[in-house]
Amino acid sequence: MIITGKYPSLRLRRSRKFNWSRRLVQENNLSVNDLILPIFLTEGKNKKIPIKSMPGVFRYSINNLGIIIDKAIKRKIPMIALFPYTNQKIKDSYGSESLNENNLVCQAINYVKKKYKNKIGIMSDVALDPYTSHGHDGILKKNEIVNDETVDLLVEQALLQAKMGCDVIAPSDMMDGRIKKIRQKLDNENLQDVQILSYAVKFASNYYGPFREAIGSKKLLKGDKKTYQMDFHNHHEAIREVALDIKEGADMVIVKPGMPYLDIIRTVKDNFKIPIIAYQVSGEYSLIKNGIQKKIINEKSIFESLISFKRAGASAIITYFADQINLESFN
Ligand code: PBG
Repeated sequence: MIITGKYPSLRLRRSRKFNWSRRLVQENNLSVNDLILPIFLTEGKNKKIPIKSMPGVFRYSINNLGIIIDKAIKRKIPMIALFPYTNQKIKDSYGSESLNENNLVCQAINYVKKKYKNKIGIMSDVALDPYTSHGHDGILKKNEIVNDETVDLLVEQALLQAKMGCDVIAPSDMMDGRIKKIRQKLDNENLQDVQILSYAVKFASNYYGPFREAIGSKKLLKGDKKTYQMDFHNHHEAIREVALDIKEGADMVIVKPGMPYLDIIRTVKDNFKIPIIAYQVSGEYSLIKNGIQKKIINEKSIFESLISFKRAGASAIITYFADQINLESFN
């Protein structure tokens, strides 16, 4: 029997028939305002060094930062995130280079603020891993990453970066209680307008490998980060982490990595009305990038991955693709 006429009465394909109609019912969109661009720093002059495990991503010496930041400003990217590749020779078990007011991050903050004023926001990580000889985010004592002593150092690191002119302090270390201590310190030092973007939900992930190569901590890292970063089997614990950081004074929170944790972004969004920043981490970047280079997937897969964060509830995304994509060609 051939069914004609009224069956079925509801046809969802009707709204998908034309491009104008698809655009009309589109629930989420991506704009350049949603993108944060990470930048790796290296010592020396006139350097732009490719990172092997992250095709299309480079480390820049301070005097070469204009190459990437001019482009970012032209595209209206709202913020950059700075990460240093520290010379192995100056790493030690306390990560004391983190408190050197002439370290790479401080130099970069100075340079960018002087040259670009407030045309682009600067975010920088607070954690010790770019500076420690063992690659951990905190102080290592008797095989343990000690919490409170580490926090004391992180507070000083945050203060230093804020004094240099950093707009957004982003603690990525996952120590307990650090947001409160950093907020108090900044407020006491008349730096109450400096924002805190907490890496509130950061999993002990297998997707950070290329980043660790990029900052030179990969070969140094002893063991793993499971005693401070979250266990990726867990979901509700993320709510507790975010609740604590909001109470301690975080202005925004990060969920990291990104694509394997879209459920977490959605849960955080449903439970708190705080801006959520998704971090599409280095491993995610390299997988997609390699897939495109080998023609396994096409370029539009980048856009699809970024939209997934918006759909899940993210306000913005830290992504190594930020300076590489032309959004108009995707829409
Ligand atoms: C370290 C830090 C990491 C990333 C950002 N800050 C790595 C780690 O915790 O080992 C990862 C970013 C990425 O993989 O893109 N504090």
